[in-house]
Amino acid sequence: MCGIVGYTGSSQAIGYLLEGLKTLEYRGYDSAGVAVLGTDGALHGVKCAGRVATLVERCETANLVGTTGIAHTRWATHGAPTDRNSHPHRDCSGRIAVVHNGIIENYRELRAYLQRGGHTLVSETDSEVIAHLIEDAWAGPSAGNLVGAVRNAVRRLEGSWALAVVCADAPGEIVCARNGSPLVVASTSEGAYAASDVTPLASVTSHVIQLENGQLARLERGGRVTVFDAEGAEVDVPSTIDIDWDASAATLGGYADFMAKEIAEQPEAIERLLSGRMGAHGVTLDELSMTGDELASVDRVYLIACGTSYHVSLIARTLIQTWAKVPVICDYASEFNYENDVLVTPHTLGVIITQSGETADTLTAARRLKGMGCKVFAITNVLGSTAARESDGVLYVQAGPEVCVASTKAYTAQMVASALLALRLAEAQGQMERAEVERRYGDLCRIPDLIREVISRSWQDKRAAQLFRRAHSALFLGRGVNATTALEGALKLKEISYLHAEAYPAGEMKHGPIALLEPGFPVVAIVPEDRVHDKTVSNIQEVIARGAVCVAVATDGDEAVASLVEHVLWIPHVPDELLVPIVAVVHLQMLARHVALLRGCDVDKPRNLAKSVTVE
Ligand code: F6R
Repeated sequence: MCGIVGYTGSSQAIGYLLEGLKTLEYRGYDSAGVAVLGTDGALHGVKCAGRVATLVERCETANLVGTTGIAHTRWATHGAPTDRNSHPHRDCSGRIAVVHNGIIENYRELRAYLQRGGHTLVSETDSEVIAHLIEDAWAGPSAGNLVGAVRNAVRRLEGSWALAVVCADAPGEIVCARNGSPLVVASTSEGAYAASDVTPLASVTSHVIQLENGQLARLERGGRVTVFDAEGAEVDVPSTIDIDWDASAATLGGYADFMAKEIAEQPEAIERLLSGRMGAHGVTLDELSMTGDELASVDRVYLIACGTSYHVSLIARTLIQTWAKVPVICDYASEFNYENDVLVTPHTLGVIITQSGETADTLTAARRLKGMGCKVFAITNVLGSTAARESDGVLYVQAGPEVCVASTKAYTAQMVASALLALRLAEAQGQMERAEVERRYGDLCRIPDLIREVISRSWQDKRAAQLFRRAHSALFLGRGVNATTALEGALKLKEISYLHAEAYPAGEMKHGPIALLEPGFPVVAIVPEDRVHDKTVSNIQEVIARGAVCVAVATDGDEAVASLVEHVLWIPHVPDELLVPIVAVVHLQMLARHVALLRGCDVDKPRNLAKSVTVE
């Protein structure tokens, strides 16, 4: 969601700020802005609805000269995406500027309070109140002390925030504050930096300081960073993380778009994740931070996630229940957080699955589970993310930066991580002999090559995509684990091509969705060789009997399916039918991408969506 960049140092700020915003575009946004402290001692800025490219154009004529500045990409929550609602927001004097990620829940009361006090607020946002609260503190109890003024202001806030603040009367200084929304800062010989995630910092440093909730930081032009707790006391040793992503990992590297690049990266990502996981004593998953005895006593698993990661949890449920024979409950984090009847036992293991590690609903769910006494394990991609830091154990899926808003490589890597967890649990629970664990691990190790094979067949997806060019809706069908593949295929298609798509377990089609079918209606059926193959073929017959057009994901050599459908997206034989979703989904990722390109959509930055959903 919203992105923050800040810089104070010896170089001109604008170049880094705009480059930083470009690296944050993947988070999803609808407007952008920048403020720089000019050599004339005043704040100058540009902000506008639309893309960072528009902001860059406007900055070219604005001549923003100065070595201290803050910048922001906004994903609208309170107030439409307009120039006026874009950040930075200023106080009445125009000498304080603020960029904010998160939501100020009591902004209405604060707004009324500030207006009663004579402040003029010009936007519809919740964020603007912060600039005016700082203005009051600066004029009163915290005169001349920007850290104090920000600390005074945030005391009045309810909700979540990551803030970067500049003040024309505190030259060379940026003050940051964090509560709920992530914020990282860095100190270098060239100056000090702030950002909402590590991506903009990867080009300038490999060491960043992750601010904790309640902390503030002062960034000074010489590069010094001082961290304070909520009471204003200096914090000696802030937690630092090393960025192991080189800046080029987040560049296109010759691919047409990040989605294409990230689809192609899946085999290597899975190889990295699997490497060295079979030790002398079985599956090595030390990150779990649980002893064999503790794992043996787990009597229930709660899997919590959102979106694509929730689809991973559905696959994980089948793997854990089938291999480890431990009952599993899956829930959307946003639902779990408000459910009364949470079925937690003293030996429940909580597992959150989150690519970004910053999804607000998922973090709230993890805290709720921990509050109930559960150990919580995170499967995540982002090093040092809040999910990683707040969980009892963390398995990094090591997929590398995922820039395209639509998740691809994190999805398949998270499924493989879930399979490792299921194997480890199966061993600990005494449900699987060593030889079987090794065999199943061997099956997992074959997946990268199977995905390579699917990727080499992307021409099949390109051809099938033509069917969706002018469609208004599509139906995805699958059974068993591939009912989830259908869900994920439909989600990928709708989010990047804006084509309505719905997924159903194939056997459920006759209970309602079949009414949608008419000549030409596109249906995607996932029908690999498995024990429900023939049942799904019958559903395909029902589809075709109504004139709908069917694209099938089928296993090499399946002539029965090929003779029925318009297009086949062929997958090679997968050694275990429970692992088919990890291979089959790659076709659906490529199909969605080709459809989106045909329909003229920006595959990497779909409208309204954010990569990192940091509000509930
Ligand atoms: C869809 C997609 C989203 C995310 C969801 C959760 O392609 O990427 O549905 O899966 O927003 O995000 P994470 O996994 O970061 O918690």
